[in-house]
Amino acid sequence: MRKKELEIILQKLEPYPNPDLKLEQYMTPGDVAATLLHLAYSQDAIKDKVVYDLGCGTGRLTVGAALLGAKKTVGIDIDKSALEVARQNAKEMEVDIEWVCSDVSEVESQDVDTVIQNPPFGVQRRGADIVFLGKALDLADEVYSLHKAGRESREFIASWVRRRSRRITHRLGLDFHIHRQFEFHTKDVHRFKVDLYRILKG
Ligand SMILES: C[S@@+](CC[C@H](N)C(=O)[O-])C[C@H]1O[C@@H](n2cnc3c(N)ncnc32)[C@H](O)[C@@H]1O
Repeated sequence: MRKKELEIILQKLEPYPNPDLKLEQYMTPGDVAATLLHLAYSQDAIKDKVVYDLGCGTGRLTVGAALLGAKKTVGIDIDKSALEVARQNAKEMEVDIEWVCSDVSEVESQDVDTVIQNPPFGVQRRGADIVFLGKALDLADEVYSLHKAGRESREFIASWVRRRSRRITHRLGLDFHIHRQFEFHTKDVHRFKVDLYRILKG
């Protein structure tokens, strides 16, 4: 499937019914989701692989991984209402996905090939992004993860990944946007930069 086609499909999936600010619930824009998934696909990390999406929300990345031919796709989120929408989105797209309602820190599995994630950026709860990244690296040897851009964040992630004996092979700067959904949003569209990381073991 072409990237643009994937982007258009993902963009149409249903959003969060009641986005929760504390959980940093905003959807990955279709173009960003398609870029992450296509990078992973091009590195042989999706097709016929076991793919976990941590903090899957309404399932944009999860559904995309399933559409690109993952052998098994698992979406994990702490919020039951988001997972109900995700389940519906998967049904609409006729893909088979396992949905798990759990705190990410409690997820355990032996058989994960690839983790994909757009975690909370740690704006509402400092360090939330690093909890997700730590769990992703525990679960899989190959991780695709979105994080806040900026020098401080980049330096922190680079040194943290090194300490975990992992290496960053790709870091792509991407434009991210959120349509007005929380009271503190003063503009109709809030735009900012993110970094997409590919992180490998060894
Ligand atoms: C930025 S949103 C992710 C959006 C989604 N991946 C997508 O592609 O549209 C972050 C998600 O992490 C979930 N989340 C936040 N804290 C969590 C935790 N401790 N354990 C599991 N999920 C959590 C939120 O409910 C939210 O759905």
